[in-house]
Amino acid sequence: MDDITAMIMDDHAAFRRGFARLDDAEDEQELLAIWEALALHLDIHAEAEEAILYPHLVRHGDDGEAETVDAVGDHNKIRDAIAESKLHPVGSDQWWAAVWQARRENSEHLAEEEDEALPDFRRHAGAELRAELGHRWLTFYGEHKNGRNLTFHDKDPQGYVREHR
Ligand SMILES: [Fe+2]
Ligand SMILES: [Fe+2]
Repeated sequence: MDDITAMIMDDHAAFRRGFARLDDAEDEQELLAIWEALALHLDIHAEAEEAILYPHLVRHGDDGEAETVDAVGDHNKIRDAIAESKLHPVGSDQWWAAVWQARRENSEHLAEEEDEALPDFRRHAGAELRAELGHRWLTFYGEHKNGRNLTFHDKDPQGYVREHR
């Protein structure tokens, strides 16, 4: 089984490609097709991290509580921007503003996650645990295909940490 951090980084690469594809979309239909898939993937990814990665990091990381507060706060900003985009016609100025907000928040978040949270996680998670969480990651995506049985609501970062530490 793959290491969970490899799976997370695969998703991150897919997000960067998805945002780049929007740059080349030729009409609203293409924008919608690219954005709907990307937005859903971003939302499911955040839920998967909050269900599988951060509960471990918050307990075992050197700076797990602070990293988790940051991450859940970032996930909220990304979720909010995605929700905002859905209120506007695809390709409108307001739609683009929301999509760019999601893109900027996401780029900033990926850098923090890859340079702070994941390195901290790796220091405290051996190969066996990483593979076990990788298995749970795959299962989560299978159980929640197309976002089934998930609701994409913001979470209180401090409350999340209190609940999981
Ligand atoms: Fe991530
Ligand atoms: Fe994240």
